[in-house]
Amino acid sequence: MKITVIGTGFVGVVSAAVYASFGHEVVGLDVDEKKIESLKSSRVPFFEPQLEELLQTAQRNGNLTFTTSYQDAITGSDVIIIAVGTPSSEDGNADLKYVFASSESLAPYLNENAVVVVKSTVPPGTLGEVEARITKLTQTKYFTASVPEFLKEGTAVYDTTNPDRIVIGVKDDYAFKVLEELHKPFNTIIIKVSPESAQMAKYSNNAYLATRITFINQIADLCEKNGADIQEVIKAIGLDKRIGKHYWYPGFGYGGSCFPKDVKELAHYSRKIGEDGNLFNKISEINENRIKKLLDNYSRKIGGFQGKNVAVLGLAFKPNTDDMREAPSTKVIPHLLNEGAQVRGFDPKSLELVKYFIKEDPSVSYVGSVEEACQEIDVIIALIEWPEILNFDYSKVRKEQKSQWFIDARNQFSPQLISNWGFKYLGVGR
Ligand code: UGA
Repeated sequence: MKITVIGTGFVGVVSAAVYASFGHEVVGLDVDEKKIESLKSSRVPFFEPQLEELLQTAQRNGNLTFTTSYQDAITGSDVIIIAVGTPSSEDGNADLKYVFASSESLAPYLNENAVVVVKSTVPPGTLGEVEARITKLTQTKYFTASVPEFLKEGTAVYDTTNPDRIVIGVKDDYAFKVLEELHKPFNTIIIKVSPESAQMAKYSNNAYLATRITFINQIADLCEKNGADIQEVIKAIGLDKRIGKHYWYPGFGYGGSCFPKDVKELAHYSRKIGEDGNLFNKISEINENRIKKLLDNYSRKIGGFQGKNVAVLGLAFKPNTDDMREAPSTKVIPHLLNEGAQVRGFDPKSLELVKYFIKEDPSVSYVGSVEEACQEIDVIIALIEWPEILNFDYSKVRKEQKSQWFIDARNQFSPQLISNWGFKYLGVGR
């Protein structure tokens, strides 16, 4: 099949490379010439394990090309996948301008019976709006579908090649058959649903996980007050098969480019259709206030951050990515600076990107190793569990004559070990 993927952001590049690896002829399309030039020479503009290798192989085999030309990319395509960004506006509304712009641009070049797939996360009802825009510009018979993406950054290639399921939202059998054929090599359950159900499934999936994280964070806060240990609580309740303990670490709240945006969009969508008193507004609000709440609590325990040297370890929103969108560091560092701390930040992959996310300040510097970040330190905040941060021997930076605190923002360290080294350990809910 000839597949065109519109949008060479995270989901677009990964999908294009994976479909190409199954032997399809894939074209990646973007209006951003710089991105396309870089991808043509197999350079991925972000860090994602295994992706560059997959891209190189597909390009070497001649299965994957990139272009900025809609005409070249769409002409002759059997399946066109829209994977452009849908950023949230201030009020949480999903901004669909890129989805609509690409729908209009692809319309004149559609092949007879082409299937236009919306993979971008969009509210229910969007497929109809996409069709209205395409139909205005072409007489050609085409089909549409909604096929949401469930990959996680940091494990995107693995998640895409080994999905738990493929959800295909369609109104007719023809589009389903084409997409079922395309997804057979993924060797997983394929479910046929309506486009609206597919879109709701995507939002619900993310909102459920965000709710689960918020729930355990709230329980952690109660444990903090009453002397219980959240890790013991998770162990105890996680044995209930209905609950489980997978994907459940408490911390500074959820971040990244998806959960915060998708929960806000679902909240906005609920309000729009008259379901005002919904859970999603509250989840968002609790998550947004979480970092300040925790830092204020730590500040009380350590006698304030004013004048202290603080190492912030892990600047990306999670390990194995350089993505800093809604990363805890982007709130933690400005807060510390505001409190009068001197900050040293470290991350294995995102140091180049920091300037776009955190305002420069004479009291903050960024360094290339954990050891450098922790020299003469008063407080270490281990924000993200990169292996470099988890496996460092912190006894090397311990100063006998100094009071030094260790804040374990995701409960990834052994409190005993950290205390044995002479640090005062502070976790989350333990
Ligand atoms: C998330 C979903 O997990 C994917 O299924 C989905 O496809 C993707 O959003 C998307 O919509 O594109 P991602 O944002 O890459 O993927 O990252 P996650 O690993 O799910 O983490 C999201 C946030 O939740 C991170 O800030 C993480 O630190 C936090 N988290 C996760 C917790 O605080 N506790 C946990 O137990 C798990």
